[in-house]
Amino acid sequence: MAKGRTTTVFFCQSCGYESPKWLGQCPGCREWNTFVEETVEKKSAGRAREERKAAAAPVCLSSVPMDEEERVSSGLEELNRVLGGGIVPGSLVLVGGDPGIGKSTLLLQVCQKLSGDGREVLYISGEESLKQIKMRAARIGSFSDKLRLFCETNLDIISETIREVRPQTVIIDSIQTMYSENSSSAPGSVSQVREATSVLLGLAKGLGVSVFIVGHVTKEGTVAGPRVLEHMVDTVLYFEGDRHASYRILRAVKNRFGSTNEIGVFEMRENGLAEVANPSEFMLNGRPEAASGSIVACSMEGTRPILLEIQALVTRSPLAMPRRTAAGMDYNRVNLLLAVLEKRLRLQLSNSDVYINIAGGFRVGEPAIDLAVVLAVVSSARDRAVDEKTLAFGEVGLSGEVRAVSQAAQRVQEAKKLGFTTVILPEVCREQAGEIKGVRLCGVRTVAEAVEVIS
Ligand code: TYD
Ligand code: MG
Repeated sequence: MAKGRTTTVFFCQSCGYESPKWLGQCPGCREWNTFVEETVEKKSAGRAREERKAAAAPVCLSSVPMDEEERVSSGLEELNRVLGGGIVPGSLVLVGGDPGIGKSTLLLQVCQKLSGDGREVLYISGEESLKQIKMRAARIGSFSDKLRLFCETNLDIISETIREVRPQTVIIDSIQTMYSENSSSAPGSVSQVREATSVLLGLAKGLGVSVFIVGHVTKEGTVAGPRVLEHMVDTVLYFEGDRHASYRILRAVKNRFGSTNEIGVFEMRENGLAEVANPSEFMLNGRPEAASGSIVACSMEGTRPILLEIQALVTRSPLAMPRRTAAGMDYNRVNLLLAVLEKRLRLQLSNSDVYINIAGGFRVGEPAIDLAVVLAVVSSARDRAVDEKTLAFGEVGLSGEVRAVSQAAQRVQEAKKLGFTTVILPEVCREQAGEIKGVRLCGVRTVAEAVEVIS
């Protein structure tokens, strides 16, 4: 095979930034010490041929047939939702996450469901032996013979096998262990990971197989992270969760076939991952009774309302610079809300430590939880518990006004479903929320009015 010219290039292993010389800090992602030297070929012969094969002649837009996009159910509703309704044949999906979070377990369960439905599935592992996979499978349950396992890391052999077996779904666990002979860098390096992905992309599009790629998120710069291939794949899912909590969240960061703000919630059990159909109930489990500094908020994750307990602890500080912490939400946002409280409600916080925590290790980026944070702080500062059947949501502005948030009706519905009787919400959203039997809606314009409601 005619080889191209080889040169050495330095790649940031975190984001894939390319540089002709070594750099201490990556200009792309600002990480330190992530550059590794790799040899690259200026267009390898095999790759060029692969690409030429895939390219077709130009066509008119009007002549492109538009049939209803076919989707295959993965058997896991939570995963289907994140994928935008199911698996699209011929799609390339990247599943990223920290080592040990449950990526292999999730995909093995998908294999179990798909093969159970009579589909040909090929699970290719470069990390574990057949025995190890068998042990994991034994915990999950019984499997159909439609599932075939293959322990291999050489991509040329893998491509050949896929062409031969013609499975409908292929799992690659993990991309960092795969290597192609077309690239001379070590497995796990940026150029090798990209080369491997482009081969898989060719297979997915050419044969119409759906390919799931596992990518480990790595802290050190020795192995290329999944971020370097986000632009190549159709869908990027991240599997995340607190090490100490049993629930796991599957989030789409990129999806060519659906929305990216949907989440799937799972719970890691003894026998694999279980779907959590009602995350609100799950998140509110173990809530303290009649404790000050605790109130429930409602955050929208895509089309799904999730109720979360917001906790605040305000204590006298022995420090000249009082401590503020925010677990589960933006630290600067917390400081801003505390400043609003000081200025608009004359609440003295300058000599108190303030700790904010979203129970259960959940992370929220939506400002709709502002009002609940503010009320939790007031409740803790006054050491007076808020009625436990009260829920609050709304964005808080700098002048202490409570601003509108989207989808108020869904939030109130969810509150009702879980037995809440009072909902404090922005006045402007009250009408939109409508009349709901059994729930008292308290529309508020300012933070002061909201505090009035809980006093
Ligand atoms: P794994 O899927 O191997 O993680 P990844 O592929 O992301 O590295 O899952 C590893 C963890 O999950 C491991 O710590 C054991 C735990 N686990 C369970 O708690 N229950 C189970 O049924 C299985 C299969 C794994
Ligand atoms: Mg694994």
